[in-house]
Amino acid sequence: MKKAMPVNQQQLGPNLTFYDLHPPATDMLEEVTRSLSAPRPHLHPKYFYNETGSRLFDAITATPEYYPTRTESALLTRYSDEIQDQLGGASTIAEPGAGSCQKVRLLLERWSPECYMPLEISRDCLLQATRELSRDFPGVQISAVCADYCQALSLPADKDPNGRVVFFPGSTIGNFEPAERQQFLRGLHQLAGPGGSLLIGADLHKDCATLHAAYNDAEGLTAAFNLNALHHINHELDCHFQVEQMRHLAFYNEQARRIEMHLECLCDQQLQLGENRLTLPAGTRIHTENSYKFTVEGFTRELINAGFTPRSCWTDPDNLFSLHLASY
Ligand code: AVJ
Repeated sequence: MKKAMPVNQQQLGPNLTFYDLHPPATDMLEEVTRSLSAPRPHLHPKYFYNETGSRLFDAITATPEYYPTRTESALLTRYSDEIQDQLGGASTIAEPGAGSCQKVRLLLERWSPECYMPLEISRDCLLQATRELSRDFPGVQISAVCADYCQALSLPADKDPNGRVVFFPGSTIGNFEPAERQQFLRGLHQLAGPGGSLLIGADLHKDCATLHAAYNDAEGLTAAFNLNALHHINHELDCHFQVEQMRHLAFYNEQARRIEMHLECLCDQQLQLGENRLTLPAGTRIHTENSYKFTVEGFTRELINAGFTPRSCWTDPDNLFSLHLASY
Protein backbone atom coordinates (compact mmCIF):
# COMPACT_ATOMS: atom_id res chain seq x y z
CA MET A 1 0.00 0.00 0.00
CA LYS A 2 1.84 3.06 -1.25
CA LYS A 3 -0.67 5.87 -0.65
CA ALA A 4 -1.10 7.40 2.77
CA MET A 5 -4.41 6.45 4.39
CA PRO A 6 -6.34 8.48 6.96
CA VAL A 7 -5.05 7.36 10.34
CA ASN A 8 -6.89 7.35 13.63
CA GLN A 9 -4.20 8.47 16.05
CA GLN A 10 -4.43 8.62 19.84
CA GLN A 11 -1.95 9.65 22.50
CA LEU A 12 -2.30 7.04 25.26
CA GLY A 13 0.59 8.12 27.43
CA PRO A 14 3.70 10.29 27.47
CA ASN A 15 5.58 7.71 25.42
CA LEU A 16 2.73 5.78 23.81
CA THR A 17 0.91 6.69 20.58
CA PHE A 18 -1.70 4.41 19.09
CA TYR A 19 -2.44 4.30 15.35
CA ASP A 20 -5.58 2.44 14.38
CA LEU A 21 -5.52 1.00 10.86
CA HIS A 22 -7.59 -2.03 11.73
CA PRO A 23 -9.39 -3.36 8.67
CA PRO A 24 -13.19 -3.19 8.98
CA ALA A 25 -15.14 -6.39 9.72
CA THR A 26 -16.74 -6.32 6.24
CA ASP A 27 -13.32 -7.11 4.78
CA MET A 28 -13.17 -10.10 7.08
CA LEU A 29 -16.56 -11.47 5.99
CA GLU A 30 -15.61 -11.19 2.36
CA GLU A 31 -12.20 -12.76 2.85
CA VAL A 32 -13.41 -15.61 5.05
CA THR A 33 -16.30 -16.37 2.67
CA ARG A 34 -13.93 -16.49 -0.28
CA SER A 35 -11.37 -18.71 1.40
CA LEU A 36 -13.89 -21.16 2.91
CA SER A 37 -15.73 -21.49 -0.43
CA ALA A 38 -12.54 -22.21 -2.36
CA PRO A 39 -12.03 -25.68 -3.89
CA ARG A 40 -9.49 -26.24 -1.12
CA PRO A 41 -10.97 -24.44 1.87
CA HIS A 42 -8.46 -22.46 3.86
CA LEU A 43 -8.15 -19.66 6.40
CA HIS A 44 -5.34 -17.15 6.73
CA PRO A 45 -3.20 -17.74 9.85
CA LYS A 46 -3.87 -14.18 11.01
CA TYR A 47 -7.26 -15.45 12.25
CA PHE A 48 -5.50 -17.33 15.04
CA TYR A 49 -4.66 -14.07 16.73
CA ASN A 50 -7.44 -12.58 18.77
CA GLU A 51 -6.79 -12.08 22.47
CA THR A 52 -7.28 -15.76 23.30
CA GLY A 53 -5.17 -16.81 20.34
CA SER A 54 -2.30 -14.58 21.33
CA ARG A 55 -2.48 -15.99 24.85
CA LEU A 56 -2.53 -19.55 23.51
CA PHE A 57 0.41 -18.82 21.28
CA ASP A 58 2.40 -17.53 24.25
CA ALA A 59 1.48 -20.71 26.13
CA ILE A 60 2.66 -22.83 23.17
CA THR A 61 6.04 -21.12 23.25
CA ALA A 62 6.50 -22.34 26.84
CA THR A 63 5.79 -26.02 26.09
CA PRO A 64 8.73 -28.42 26.14
CA GLU A 65 7.98 -29.43 22.53
CA TYR A 66 7.99 -25.96 20.99
CA TYR A 67 11.71 -25.27 20.67
CA PRO A 68 11.76 -22.20 18.32
CA THR A 69 10.99 -19.45 20.81
CA ARG A 70 13.41 -20.44 23.51
CA THR A 71 16.13 -21.18 20.97
CA GLU A 72 15.74 -17.81 19.29
CA SER A 73 15.58 -15.96 22.61
CA ALA A 74 18.83 -17.61 23.64
CA LEU A 75 20.42 -16.45 20.38
CA LEU A 76 19.17 -12.89 20.89
CA THR A 77 20.45 -12.81 24.45
CA ARG A 78 23.77 -14.28 23.58
CA TYR A 79 24.47 -12.16 20.51
CA SER A 80 22.66 -8.90 21.21
CA ASP A 81 25.93 -6.96 21.66
CA GLU A 82 27.34 -8.36 18.46
CA ILE A 83 24.14 -7.52 16.60
CA GLN A 84 24.09 -4.00 18.00
CA ASP A 85 27.72 -3.47 16.97
CA GLN A 86 26.89 -4.49 13.43
CA LEU A 87 23.82 -2.27 13.31
CA GLY A 88 25.63 0.90 14.22
CA GLY A 89 23.14 3.74 14.64
CA ALA A 90 19.58 2.44 14.16
CA SER A 91 17.29 4.27 16.56
CA THR A 92 13.94 2.64 15.80
CA ILE A 93 12.93 -0.98 16.04
CA ALA A 94 9.85 -1.82 13.94
CA GLU A 95 8.19 -5.18 14.51
CA PRO A 96 5.48 -6.53 12.18
CA GLY A 97 3.18 -8.98 13.99
CA ALA A 98 4.55 -8.07 17.40
CA GLY A 99 1.90 -10.00 19.36
CA SER A 100 2.51 -9.61 23.06
CA CYS A 101 5.80 -7.74 22.42
CA GLN A 102 7.73 -10.11 24.70
CA LYS A 103 10.75 -10.90 22.60
CA VAL A 104 11.61 -7.30 21.84
CA ARG A 105 12.10 -6.68 25.55
CA LEU A 106 15.43 -8.44 25.23
CA LEU A 107 16.47 -5.81 22.69
CA LEU A 108 14.89 -2.80 24.41
CA GLU A 109 16.75 -3.67 27.60
CA ARG A 110 20.05 -4.06 25.86
CA TRP A 111 19.89 -1.46 23.10
CA SER A 112 17.76 1.36 24.59
CA PRO A 113 16.54 2.56 21.17
CA GLU A 114 14.64 5.86 20.85
CA CYS A 115 11.54 4.32 19.31
CA TYR A 116 9.71 1.05 19.07
CA MET A 117 7.00 0.52 16.48
CA PRO A 118 5.01 -2.71 16.83
CA LEU A 119 2.46 -3.55 14.11
CA GLU A 120 -0.19 -5.99 15.26
CA ILE A 121 -3.66 -6.96 14.03
CA SER A 122 -5.08 -7.85 17.46
CA ARG A 123 -6.03 -4.50 18.97
CA ASP A 124 -6.60 -5.76 22.52
CA CYS A 125 -3.35 -7.63 22.53
CA LEU A 126 -1.45 -4.64 21.16
CA LEU A 127 -3.00 -2.19 23.62
CA GLN A 128 -2.29 -4.34 26.62
CA ALA A 129 1.23 -5.19 25.56
CA THR A 130 2.23 -1.62 24.73
CA ARG A 131 0.70 -0.16 27.89
CA GLU A 132 2.90 -2.46 29.94
CA LEU A 133 5.87 -1.83 27.70
CA SER A 134 5.51 1.95 27.91
CA ARG A 135 5.62 1.73 31.72
CA ASP A 136 8.58 -0.62 31.76
CA PHE A 137 10.51 1.42 29.18
CA PRO A 138 9.70 5.10 29.86
CA GLY A 139 12.67 6.18 27.73
CA VAL A 140 11.38 4.52 24.57
CA GLN A 141 8.79 6.25 22.36
CA ILE A 142 6.26 3.60 21.40
CA SER A 143 4.20 3.95 18.19
CA ALA A 144 1.70 1.11 18.31
CA VAL A 145 0.14 0.37 14.93
CA CYS A 146 -2.97 -1.77 14.87
CA ALA A 147 -3.02 -3.18 11.35
CA ASP A 148 -2.80 -6.19 9.12
CA TYR A 149 0.93 -5.77 8.70
CA CYS A 150 0.85 -7.16 5.18
CA GLN A 151 -1.15 -4.07 4.21
CA ALA A 152 0.59 -1.44 6.28
CA LEU A 153 4.28 -1.79 5.66
CA SER A 154 4.90 1.88 5.03
CA LEU A 155 2.96 3.40 7.94
CA PRO A 156 3.15 5.60 9.88
CA ALA A 157 5.74 7.75 8.16
CA ASP A 158 8.17 8.51 10.94
CA LYS A 159 11.37 10.41 10.54
CA ASP A 160 14.17 8.00 11.27
CA PRO A 161 17.27 9.39 9.61
CA ASN A 162 19.25 6.23 10.31
CA GLY A 163 16.56 3.92 9.06
CA ARG A 164 14.82 1.37 11.16
CA VAL A 165 15.72 -2.10 12.23
CA VAL A 166 12.89 -4.32 11.19
CA PHE A 167 12.63 -7.08 13.76
CA PHE A 168 10.79 -10.13 12.43
CA PRO A 169 11.45 -12.93 14.88
CA GLY A 170 9.89 -16.32 15.51
CA SER A 171 10.09 -17.60 11.94
CA THR A 172 6.81 -15.91 11.13
CA ILE A 173 8.31 -15.58 7.65
CA GLY A 174 7.64 -19.33 7.39
CA ASN A 175 3.92 -18.61 7.15
CA PHE A 176 4.34 -17.18 3.64
CA GLU A 177 4.33 -19.13 0.40
CA PRO A 178 7.67 -18.90 -1.41
CA ALA A 179 6.46 -16.30 -3.94
CA GLU A 180 4.68 -14.21 -1.28
CA ARG A 181 7.76 -14.46 0.87
CA GLN A 182 9.86 -12.73 -1.77
CA GLN A 183 7.29 -10.00 -2.13
CA PHE A 184 6.91 -9.55 1.59
CA LEU A 185 10.66 -9.35 2.17
CA ARG A 186 10.88 -6.75 -0.59
CA GLY A 187 8.05 -4.85 1.09
CA LEU A 188 10.09 -4.66 4.29
CA HIS A 189 12.49 -2.27 2.56
CA GLN A 190 9.79 0.40 2.86
CA LEU A 191 9.27 -0.20 6.55
CA ALA A 192 13.02 -0.23 7.19
CA GLY A 193 13.56 2.95 5.20
CA PRO A 194 16.83 4.05 3.59
CA GLY A 195 19.80 2.71 5.51
CA GLY A 196 17.60 0.34 7.46
CA SER A 197 18.17 -3.30 8.24
CA LEU A 198 16.40 -6.54 8.94
CA LEU A 199 16.84 -8.89 11.89
CA ILE A 200 14.86 -12.00 11.09
CA GLY A 201 14.46 -15.48 12.57
CA ALA A 202 14.11 -18.65 10.48
CA ASP A 203 13.20 -22.10 11.76
CA LEU A 204 15.45 -24.75 10.28
CA HIS A 205 14.63 -28.02 8.53
CA LYS A 206 15.23 -30.96 10.87
CA ASP A 207 14.04 -34.46 11.72
CA CYS A 208 10.31 -35.10 11.36
CA ALA A 209 9.80 -36.25 14.95
CA THR A 210 11.04 -32.97 16.46
CA LEU A 211 8.95 -30.95 14.05
CA HIS A 212 5.86 -33.08 14.50
CA ALA A 213 6.04 -32.83 18.29
CA ALA A 214 6.41 -29.04 18.18
CA TYR A 215 2.99 -28.77 16.48
CA ASN A 216 1.30 -31.57 18.43
CA ASP A 217 2.16 -30.71 22.02
CA ALA A 218 0.96 -33.13 24.68
CA GLU A 219 -1.03 -30.45 26.51
CA GLY A 220 -3.13 -29.79 23.41
CA LEU A 221 -2.32 -26.09 23.30
CA THR A 222 -1.55 -26.12 19.58
CA ALA A 223 -4.86 -27.88 18.94
CA ALA A 224 -6.66 -25.22 20.98
CA PHE A 225 -4.76 -22.50 19.12
CA ASN A 226 -5.75 -23.94 15.75
CA LEU A 227 -9.40 -24.35 16.78
CA ASN A 228 -9.45 -20.85 18.19
CA ALA A 229 -9.40 -19.48 14.63
CA LEU A 230 -12.97 -20.79 14.38
CA HIS A 231 -14.03 -19.35 17.74
CA HIS A 232 -12.59 -16.08 16.54
CA ILE A 233 -14.52 -15.97 13.27
CA ASN A 234 -17.67 -17.27 15.00
CA HIS A 235 -17.37 -14.33 17.36
CA GLU A 236 -16.69 -11.74 14.65
CA LEU A 237 -19.03 -13.05 11.94
CA ASP A 238 -21.51 -15.21 13.85
CA CYS A 239 -21.02 -17.99 11.29
CA HIS A 240 -22.09 -20.96 13.46
CA PHE A 241 -19.07 -23.27 13.30
CA GLN A 242 -19.59 -26.22 15.68
CA VAL A 243 -16.06 -26.05 16.95
CA GLU A 244 -16.31 -29.19 19.10
CA GLN A 245 -17.03 -31.05 15.84
CA MET A 246 -13.69 -30.00 14.32
CA ARG A 247 -10.34 -31.74 14.74
CA HIS A 248 -6.80 -30.33 14.83
CA LEU A 249 -4.29 -31.85 12.38
CA ALA A 250 -0.62 -30.96 12.05
CA PHE A 251 2.05 -32.82 10.09
CA TYR A 252 5.35 -32.22 8.34
CA ASN A 253 5.10 -32.20 4.55
CA GLU A 254 8.68 -33.17 3.95
CA GLN A 255 8.62 -32.61 0.21
CA ALA A 256 7.39 -29.06 0.58
CA ARG A 257 9.47 -28.57 3.74
CA ARG A 258 6.61 -27.21 5.72
CA ILE A 259 4.43 -28.00 8.69
CA GLU A 260 0.80 -27.96 7.61
CA MET A 261 -2.01 -27.31 10.03
CA HIS A 262 -5.57 -28.18 9.11
CA LEU A 263 -8.96 -28.36 10.80
CA GLU A 264 -11.05 -31.36 9.82
CA CYS A 265 -14.85 -31.33 9.90
CA LEU A 266 -16.15 -34.26 11.96
CA CYS A 267 -19.71 -33.58 10.79
CA ASP A 268 -21.31 -31.47 8.06
CA GLN A 269 -20.68 -27.88 9.10
CA GLN A 270 -23.52 -25.56 8.13
CA LEU A 271 -22.18 -22.04 8.04
CA GLN A 272 -23.86 -18.68 7.81
CA LEU A 273 -21.60 -16.13 6.18
CA GLY A 274 -23.46 -12.86 6.06
CA GLU A 275 -26.28 -13.44 3.56
CA ASN A 276 -24.77 -16.69 2.30
CA ARG A 277 -25.00 -20.23 3.56
CA LEU A 278 -22.17 -22.68 3.04
CA THR A 279 -21.96 -26.36 3.97
CA LEU A 280 -18.59 -27.97 4.53
CA PRO A 281 -19.23 -31.73 4.38
CA ALA A 282 -17.83 -34.06 7.05
CA GLY A 283 -14.23 -34.91 6.22
CA THR A 284 -13.45 -31.49 4.72
CA ARG A 285 -10.10 -30.13 5.77
CA ILE A 286 -9.62 -26.41 6.21
CA HIS A 287 -5.97 -25.55 5.69
CA THR A 288 -5.10 -23.02 8.39
CA GLU A 289 -1.33 -22.66 8.31
CA ASN A 290 1.89 -23.49 6.54
CA SER A 291 5.06 -23.11 8.53
CA TYR A 292 7.98 -23.47 6.13
CA LYS A 293 11.33 -24.70 7.38
CA PHE A 294 14.59 -23.40 5.93
CA THR A 295 18.26 -24.08 5.52
CA VAL A 296 20.74 -21.32 6.36
CA GLU A 297 22.00 -21.31 2.77
CA GLY A 298 18.52 -21.31 1.29
CA PHE A 299 17.28 -18.50 3.48
CA THR A 300 20.38 -16.41 2.86
CA ARG A 301 19.77 -16.81 -0.87
CA GLU A 302 16.18 -15.67 -0.41
CA LEU A 303 17.37 -12.53 1.38
CA ILE A 304 19.72 -11.77 -1.49
CA ASN A 305 16.97 -12.38 -4.04
CA ALA A 306 14.79 -9.92 -2.15
CA GLY A 307 17.44 -7.22 -2.49
CA PHE A 308 19.14 -7.52 0.90
CA THR A 309 22.80 -7.80 1.69
CA PRO A 310 23.20 -10.52 4.32
CA ARG A 311 25.50 -9.32 7.15
CA SER A 312 25.58 -12.14 9.66
CA CYS A 313 23.85 -15.30 10.69
CA TRP A 314 23.77 -16.97 14.10
CA THR A 315 22.57 -20.49 14.90
CA ASP A 316 22.36 -22.64 18.04
CA PRO A 317 24.66 -25.67 18.50
CA ASP A 318 21.86 -28.09 17.54
CA ASN A 319 21.04 -26.13 14.37
CA LEU A 320 17.42 -25.77 15.30
CA PHE A 321 16.99 -22.10 14.44
CA SER A 322 18.82 -19.29 12.67
CA LEU A 323 18.90 -15.54 13.15
CA HIS A 324 19.86 -13.38 10.17
CA LEU A 325 20.95 -9.78 9.97
CA ALA A 326 20.70 -8.11 6.58
CA SER A 327 20.82 -4.59 5.19
CA TYR A 328 20.94 -2.91 1.79
C1 AVJ B 1 4.25 -17.73 14.74
C2 AVJ B 1 4.15 -18.64 12.55
C3 AVJ B 1 6.16 -18.79 13.81
O1 AVJ B 1 4.76 -21.45 12.60
O2 AVJ B 1 5.66 -22.06 14.46
C4 AVJ B 1 2.92 -22.23 16.39
C5 AVJ B 1 2.84 -20.34 14.64
N1 AVJ B 1 1.56 -22.47 14.75
N2 AVJ B 1 2.28 -23.39 16.53
C6 AVJ B 1 4.95 -21.31 13.81
C7 AVJ B 1 2.46 -21.65 15.25
C8 AVJ B 1 1.46 -23.53 15.55
C9 AVJ B 1 4.30 -20.14 14.53
N3 AVJ B 1 4.69 -18.84 13.91
